[in-house]
Amino acid sequence: MPGYKIAVLPGDGIGPEVTREAERAMIAAAQAFNFEIELEHWPIGGTALDQFDTPFPDATREACLAADAIFLGAIGDPKWDHETGARRCEAALLALRKALGGYANLRPVIVPESLVDASPLRPECVSGTDLLIVRELTGGIYFGEPRSSGEDVAANNMIYTRSEVERIARMAFSIAEKRRGHLTSVDKANVLEVSQLWRSVVTEIHELEFPNVELEHLYVDNAAIQLILHPSQFDVILTGNLFGDILSDLAGTLPGSLGILPSASFGGLVDLYEPVHGSAPDIAGKGCANPGGALLSIVMLLQRLGEMEAGARLQDGIIKTLEEGVLTRDLGGTASTTEFADAVLSRAFNFAPTAA
Ligand code: NAD
Ligand code: IPM
Ligand code: MN
Repeated sequence: MPGYKIAVLPGDGIGPEVTREAERAMIAAAQAFNFEIELEHWPIGGTALDQFDTPFPDATREACLAADAIFLGAIGDPKWDHETGARRCEAALLALRKALGGYANLRPVIVPESLVDASPLRPECVSGTDLLIVRELTGGIYFGEPRSSGEDVAANNMIYTRSEVERIARMAFSIAEKRRGHLTSVDKANVLEVSQLWRSVVTEIHELEFPNVELEHLYVDNAAIQLILHPSQFDVILTGNLFGDILSDLAGTLPGSLGILPSASFGGLVDLYEPVHGSAPDIAGKGCANPGGALLSIVMLLQRLGEMEAGARLQDGIIKTLEEGVLTRDLGGTASTTEFADAVLSRAFNFAPTAA
């Protein structure tokens, strides 16, 4: 029987609330499809800072590097926002991403017909949306050196090397090839030199290695409005770390909630799965967080582990639950976090285990 060791990092705020449902999904999938799953909890973020005086304990790093896959809920809360440098919750997440080296962060955005009316945008705009944001995750302005803080002047550097752009472009083109064969590269090449390099390297990789994929370049400001006005024009969106962060939250408006967007980071030592949303301090502890982004991240995890049937069943369970109108508050419904997950798991696997 195949077995997988998953490092589970619940984190802060609604992180533990959505992680609980992600774990139940893995347990149900393992039982239904005859594989073994070992779930081990490790601290990260503010919760770790309070307990271990660091938001990213060495034990967490080592456990992540030794796992078959990692699931992270969310980190951060205003109560830790006075912290600086490596003591910040967000620094822990960035250090984890850097330690793993997963440079390709895939953020799929699908609007199922059942959510067309949940979107704040007009149905004819969002209907048919099925796009994938490929966000470069371990470079760009998030990691550029030197960086400095100060009361009067502070600075960050947006740096990309040719090889960083080449590898993310290859990853994005090879995914686009298997989808609808269209890739939109998003940059700010009308202003930034770093974007001019990005654009020329993406164009080169296209011409030399993927001429069969249709390539289009958009400036990030235009990409933002196109994403809202006409999202179904997009197949794969390839972009850098900062632009990908912003555009993926914006894309949360398409299905009506950020809470339903999943992500996976590939290309490193161990793959990392995390919903796109944060710790949502405004709703933490209320039991109303949408676990959809976490559950769809588990779909990506199962598929990557080769448990295709289990992944497909979980995805179908999520779509059916939405179709039947079982919705959390962010999507206009009344279901609690656990009620939504119960509905998904019983549809997917005829079995909704209690929390681990
Ligand atoms: P956020 O994503 O936490 O919340 C933005 C809005 O979306 C809020 O109104 C929130 O209630 C809503 N929302 C988010 N997830 C939801 C869900 N699952 N169900 C229903 N509603 C949901 O962003 P923020 O408020 O800007 O940041 C809060 C904290 O989270 C900050 O400390 C930030 O640094 C951190 N953060 C962490 C991650 C991560 O761990 N991956 C990602 C983004 C932000
Ligand atoms: C995300 C988050 C993180 C990011 C933060 C919390 C470091 O916003 O995963 O989208 O900016 O990458
Ligand atoms: Mn973000």
